[in-house]
Amino acid sequence: MAYAAFRSIGAYTPEKILSNEELSTMVETSDEWITKRTGIKERRIAAENEFTSDLGMKAARKALDRSGIALSDIDMIVCATISPDYFCMPSTATIISTKLGLKNATAFDISAACTGFVYALSIAKAFIESGMKKNVLIIGAEKLSAITDYSDRGTCILFGDGAGSAVISATEDKNEAIIDIHTGADGEYADLLMTPNGGSGSAHDSLGAEAGSCFMQMKGNETFKVAVRTLTKDVKEILADNNLTGEDIVHFVPHQANLRIIKAVGDALKMKEEQVVLTVAKYGNTSGASIPMAINDVYEAGDLKAGELMLLDAFGGGLTWGSALVPFSPKVS
Ligand code: UT7
Repeated sequence: MAYAAFRSIGAYTPEKILSNEELSTMVETSDEWITKRTGIKERRIAAENEFTSDLGMKAARKALDRSGIALSDIDMIVCATISPDYFCMPSTATIISTKLGLKNATAFDISAACTGFVYALSIAKAFIESGMKKNVLIIGAEKLSAITDYSDRGTCILFGDGAGSAVISATEDKNEAIIDIHTGADGEYADLLMTPNGGSGSAHDSLGAEAGSCFMQMKGNETFKVAVRTLTKDVKEILADNNLTGEDIVHFVPHQANLRIIKAVGDALKMKEEQVVLTVAKYGNTSGASIPMAINDVYEAGDLKAGELMLLDAFGGGLTWGSALVPFSPKVS
């Protein structure tokens, strides 16, 4: 049987930094409030002519370079995004595919908000284990600045742009394999976090033509409470199902939405400080890109070693959630 191994990680962060101080000149807020309530100090903002596919392509190139797998051997690209280059089509994954110079690979986007990368990972795992694909490039890429209302202090202080990518490939060696992935969704909570206008279900008949029609809206405080509850439950279940405990985890990589959410979840799970990966201060919430960007930070710091077990835990609009037990399994030549 083929197993799916997490071979490599890459990320790209746009150059421009938007600080809390700068935001304080745009809406009524302060560095002190944002830092205390979210842990965020700054976030990255893509250039006007830099699209989600550009961010994703740059992250994917890094992941590919580090994977030991040739571009021509990639047989599928899955891009998780809620800020695609184009509304409906073509998919951002197909644009990335062309920008990479890849021909004929299956390519499609998925929409699972901040859980997108974990969903993409589960799709890669399923395709590889079924024998349908051998080398899958997964990408979480977001230009959230394009769908953020910079007059709404409840959301604009949170979100940033960026991308992360990983190469997942077939292996015969069970020790290298992704151990388990849990995913779920509950549409009953859809109104907590959504882009209510611009789609076929909206009251507008302009399908996104008017400025601001795709802006995100969030009931922050309610979302916060559901996030803590769901993330904690999710991790407890996946650990128990696999006869593991928090002590078996080297890197706990939660979705980077808010430092207070991460701390509450980490404490409930009795995670030690050195286990918990934190990037929220410098990137803010980058939705589907947040987990791979965080893994990349650990990798680039030289702290992600072959065989080390990562626990990914995500939560986002939909509502969606997901967790994954993933050993880092670089290809050894
Ligand atoms: O990634 C997907 C999931 N997303 C999340 O998990 C995000 C979850 N939510 C959050 O991170 C937090 O709820 C926020 C950071 C968005 C808000 O923090 P909070 O502690 O839940 O604040 P709140 O919404 O309960 O608001 C408290 C007060 C309100 O004022 P009053 O009514 O007490 O006078 C708000 O108007 O803070 C006010 N407020 C602000 N003040 C300064 C809200 N946003 C701001 C702001 N600056 N940016």
